[in-house]
This record gives sequence, C-alpha cells and structure tokens, in this order.
Amino acid sequence: MTQPVTFHLADDERPTSWYNVVADLPTPPPPPLHPATHEPVGPDDLSALFPPELIAQEVTTERWVEIPEAVQEVYAQYRPAPLIRARKWEERLGTKARIYVKYEGVSPAGSHKVNTAVPQAYYNKLNGITRLTTETGAGQWGTALAYACALYDMKCEVWQVGHSYDTKPQRRTLIEVFGGTVHRSPSQMTESGKAFEEGHPGSLGIAISEAVELAAQDEGAKYALGSVLNHVLLHQTVIGQEAVKQLEKAGEDGADVVVGCAGGGSNLAGLIFPFLRGNLTEGRTTRLVAVEPSSCPTMTRGTYAYDFGDTAGLTPLMKMYTLGHDFVPSPIHAGGLRYHGMAPLVSHVVHEGLVEAVALDQDECFAAAVEFARAQGIVPAPESSHALAQARREALAADEAGTAPVIVVGLSGYGLLELGAFDSYLKGNLTGDSLLSDEELSASLATLPAVE
Ligand SMILES: Cc1ncc(COP(=O)(O)O)c(C=O)c1O
Repeated sequence: MTQPVTFHLADDERPTSWYNVVADLPTPPPPPLHPATHEPVGPDDLSALFPPELIAQEVTTERWVEIPEAVQEVYAQYRPAPLIRARKWEERLGTKARIYVKYEGVSPAGSHKVNTAVPQAYYNKLNGITRLTTETGAGQWGTALAYACALYDMKCEVWQVGHSYDTKPQRRTLIEVFGGTVHRSPSQMTESGKAFEEGHPGSLGIAISEAVELAAQDEGAKYALGSVLNHVLLHQTVIGQEAVKQLEKAGEDGADVVVGCAGGGSNLAGLIFPFLRGNLTEGRTTRLVAVEPSSCPTMTRGTYAYDFGDTAGLTPLMKMYTLGHDFVPSPIHAGGLRYHGMAPLVSHVVHEGLVEAVALDQDECFAAAVEFARAQGIVPAPESSHALAQARREALAADEAGTAPVIVVGLSGYGLLELGAFDSYLKGNLTGDSLLSDEELSASLATLPAVE
C-alpha cells in the first residue's frame, strides 16, 4: 500500500487560540524602550502606529490569545497548512532521517505572512482605520497585507526594498492585483528615503522608516509590520500548533530537530514556539535551529544589545541581536532575510540557549532548494531554502552518527515569483553573497545607541 505523505487535521482540530511563549519562559524578555527617554514604552507610545488590540497582544503574558472568529474564517480558506513527509527527498538523500516539511506556500500570498496580515488588518478595520502602510523585502509580506486589506476594504501602501522592486516585478504586480500600491524604497516621498541617493538598493530598515514616517502623519492610517514584534510572532504560532498535532497523526512522538529560516524571526517563532513549549513544560528535548544567511549574520555574528528596528531610528529600542541599524546587507536573493536585527523574543530564546542559530551561504541554500524541487515538485522561496539546506545537513550528519531523527522543516513559502534568482543559480551567476568583514561589522556596530 502507498505510504501516507500528507497529514491533515479535522476542522475541529484547527487552533482556536494563538500561543504566547512568554507565559512559559524561565525569564521574561527585556522590554522595548522609548527611543528618546530610554524608559520602557507604554501603550500610549505605540498608539500612533498600532490599534489597541495589537498593543495588548504585544505586551500580554497570557498563555493563550483567542483567535477572533472572523480571522478563523479566513484561516479556514487555506489552513491547516499541510505537513508533508518529504519521502522523495529522503530517498534522494539516501537518509534514514524522517523529514517533514510544514508548507506555508498554500496561502493566498504564497507564504506564512498571511497568518498575521489578516488579524492585523482586521483589528485596524475594527478601529476605523482606512489605510495601512508597510515595508516589504521579499514581496511576500506586501502581497499578504494587500490581500488582507482587500478583504476589509482598506488601502494598502507598500515600500518595497529597492533591490526586490528591481528584480521582482511580478511581486509588485501581485500586490497591485490585490489592490495595493507599491513604492520603490528608498523613495523621495519621505525624509527617511531622501537621505539616500536614487537607485540605492535599499534595506528593510530603510523601508520600515518610510512606512512608519507616513503612517504617523495620517490619522486614518496605521503601520503594519510583517515580522519582529511579539504580536506578529504570536499570530504565526498557528504553524507550530498544527505541526505538533500533525506529527502525532503521522505516528511520531514529537520531533528531534525543528529547523526554520529567520529574517525578522516570525515564521521561525511560529513554528518552533509550540515545540519549545514541549521542552519547557513537558521535559522534551527537541533541538530548535534558526538559520540565517551568512551575508546577514545577525544571530551568529551580531551583538545582543538595544537597537532601533529601522534605519532612521523612529521605532522603539529593542533588545535584540543586531548588526547595527545602519547595516545594509548585500543584495542576496533571499530578500526577506536581509534585516539587520532579529525579533526580541527570538533573540531572547537564542541568548538563553533555548534555540540554536547557524548561518549558511546562498549557494548551498539554492543547491538544496533545487534538489528539493526535483524530488518533491515544490519550488521553495529562497528564504525557506535556508531551512531546507540546514535540514539536509542535519539528516546527513545523523546518517554519519547512525541515528534516524525526526526533522521538521519550516517551508515558509514558494519561490514561483523568484524564478529569476533560480535562473541565475542554474546559469552559475548567482551574485550578492559577499562575506561581511570584521571591519565592516565593527563599523556598523559602532552606531548602536548608548543605553544604560
Ligand atoms: C517566504 C519567506 N520566508 C521567510 C521570510 C523571513 O521572514 P520571517 O523571519 O519574519 O519569517 C520571508 C520574509 O519576507 C519570506 O517571504
């Protein structure tokens, strides 16, 4: 008989709450600080940018936060996302490891980003907001928010990182199909953008400054962030909650290793936090691994310190692994991983030794992506390819060691609008993966704000 490959959940097994890992952490994460006073930020400091429900979620210590019925209805269109046993890839690798991929490419935008775009748009709509501004790196987040705004009849304005805008015209079109408006960042529309010369490749930090700047000037507008903040990570925990249950259906007693890529940290957190819960509350020993690009090595070479989330210094100061808010990563194709910082919650659990971090080169990730595509028939996003490359390493290392672990991989999105990058890889002229020298790193870290 054919072996089962995809593991489903019944309608009544779908998560109805988001999971807040803060409730189970041995130590609380350090609070965000006001950029001028350096005092912990209060709800009033955030109210120009976010609606009250999201601010409450940002600071809550409750373990479970109920998912509004209206949001569950949208989730039901594409969730549960499948957990797929990658048997064909296992065969190709000749491994005894059992590899499961949690595939978020089934969402309307092609990635996990819809999981937070929908509740963010929903809460803003409840508060009478008519326009949302945002940044996008890979284009996935901009697409997801444009779709969510279309659902609630709101305007969506997206600053797309210059390099991504130039190389991914189809992403821009997809955002426009969903009714969004796209600007190349840095743009001439904002003071933050005007600080850079025209044609600058941009960065997520600059694009965030631009979107924040405009939202703060318009009463009917608010800003939406696609990663990094606690409430964004919270919304993504539907991924890991489903995966834990789906593994059970697959007959597994949990996972030995869970691997995810990390840009701002949201898909990684969404996948691993429910597994971390097992470690913290049930005595499990699942290894949790965050994978970043070696050209933007936030967790593996950055400093754990207070820094701004954006380049212009408009956001609160967050304690996080950072390469310095002025850092402009080299233009690798995994645009969603080109961020100078890492979510404070992810930084905290890495700093506490609860989660491991590794950095991989672009070439190795594309090689793993192509190998995976040829076996499984799914073209992964360049970001997700980092998780696949690390899973591959884990499987081969386990074979050497004579073990047969269960590996869960976060396949955060598809790469069908990144075929230009795959074309470059296949032709052998992939560019952009320049190694960050120690001198460049020290110069960038010298700009960190002094916080007592
Ligand atoms: C497919 C995909 N995976 C991962 C990421 C990285 O973001 P995060 O670390 O917030 O999950 C992005 C960001 O745009 C993305 O588009």
